Amino acid sequence: SMVISYNRSYGNLKDQDRIFTNLYRDNDPFVQGALKRGDWHQTKQILSNGPEWIIDEIKKSGLRGRGGAGFLSGLKYSFMPKVNPDGRPSYLVINSDESEPGTCKDREILRNDPHKLVEGALVVGFSMRARAAYIYIRGEFWVEANILQQAINEAYAKGFIGKNACGSGYDFDVYIHRGAGAYICGEETGLIESLEGKAGQPRIKPPFPANAGLYGCPTTVTNVETVAVCPTIMRRGASWFAGFGRPNNAGTKLYCISGHVNNPCTVEEEMSIPLKELLERHCGGVRGGWDNLLAIIPGGSSVPMMPKNVCDDVLMDFDALKAVGSGLGTAAVIVMDKSTDPIDAILRLSKFYKHESCGQCTPCREGTGWIVDVMERLLVGNADYAEIDMLEQVTQQIEMHTICALGDAAAWPVQGLIKNFREQIEDRIDSYHAKHPQLKKSRKS
Ligand code: NAI
Ligand code: SF4
Repeated sequence: SMVISYNRSYGNLKDQDRIFTNLYRDNDPFVQGALKRGDWHQTKQILSNGPEWIIDEIKKSGLRGRGGAGFLSGLKYSFMPKVNPDGRPSYLVINSDESEPGTCKDREILRNDPHKLVEGALVVGFSMRARAAYIYIRGEFWVEANILQQAINEAYAKGFIGKNACGSGYDFDVYIHRGAGAYICGEETGLIESLEGKAGQPRIKPPFPANAGLYGCPTTVTNVETVAVCPTIMRRGASWFAGFGRPNNAGTKLYCISGHVNNPCTVEEEMSIPLKELLERHCGGVRGGWDNLLAIIPGGSSVPMMPKNVCDDVLMDFDALKAVGSGLGTAAVIVMDKSTDPIDAILRLSKFYKHESCGQCTPCREGTGWIVDVMERLLVGNADYAEIDMLEQVTQQIEMHTICALGDAAAWPVQGLIKNFREQIEDRIDSYHAKHPQLKKSRKS
């Protein structure tokens, strides 16, 4: 397997270096508890340094977007106009549509540490001279939307947001918008369409939202965790944050681990922690021991699975996972032990993407249906060897030929399955044909 060399060992984050200290609601999630945890501390001073300074600090911290794509956050925020010659307002849109299978990290922030997000909205919104923040929450997060609304109300009552936010002289509003249960509304331009009251069908990029976003105005769409870590970065310093993880992979990160581990959890750890150590330190290890591992999807369903031999040494960061053909994505680690039928596991994802395709691109709309049809037959083995290659070709017709990344996300898990588990697929076909000798054989070519 591939071993990546690194200078020191990563992981084992100390409690005092955690940003999110109330992930399991050990304490009051609302304003009294938040103030005790250090939220809203010296926010006025942070703002008094000016928008430029804040963006510069975010750049220096090395923060990369926590929604999945890992785009450099400071750079992205710097695309917003410094002055709007035509008087259009700018908007911050916070993506809380967390719907990626396996992902439940933003949910814990919304539930248990909502003031981190509200304060982050002010700090990040101010840095891009936004008039207001819209927080787009997935419809299923009913409880979380209520908790967040309470935190927003508290922040208004305390004068932290609204007119003259924190006594800064800056006016800033925060609104919640609830989604209605469509995965595609988490795609940033689909989200903007939905906020505008239309069907959530993604737009072609460019133009990027900073040029033409919500109501045609300069807009930045950014993830909950990305926003929520910013006030702490301002208080503790960019170099503090940059001190965690390997170069280009800075910071601490929320990992949500599900599936066949003894103790599934969401935990903040150092970026670049070895995957194996993450599972052993925080999840009680793989069910039945490390040798019982089959494969892991390290970053939510939109990144390819990795067979066990890759998992042995890989580090949990953007570059290390990319180097082995997968990705950090949302850092939702889905663990599958040897009791898993990999074909069935991937078929389940394929059905999800078929269901969630918004339907405006032909390769995605039709291709996701074809994938499910062929995968359903591969699951039982009622197929031809040649259809494995045909399935791969279908995924290649989708990949890179669609408006948004959902098409790629539907294609990659299937490609990963074929690459890593071709033998199992062929075995399934063999045993089906052994049980059904009356069927015409057209097999190994
Ligand atoms: P992307 O790479 O197209 O964009 C990432 C961000 O950077 C966007 O905000 C985009 O506007 C900005 N950006 C990229 N290039 C730019 C440029 N040249 N100029 C200005 N801005 C630029 O990726 P996308 O489609 O936004 O996200 C895909 C990822 O989302 C997947 O890798 C997946 O991991 C993740 N995802 C997360 C989900 C969740 O529930 N959190 C759900 C589904 C997918
Ligand atoms: Fe819609 Fe799929 Fe096209 Fe994305 S790739 S815009 S989900 S049809």
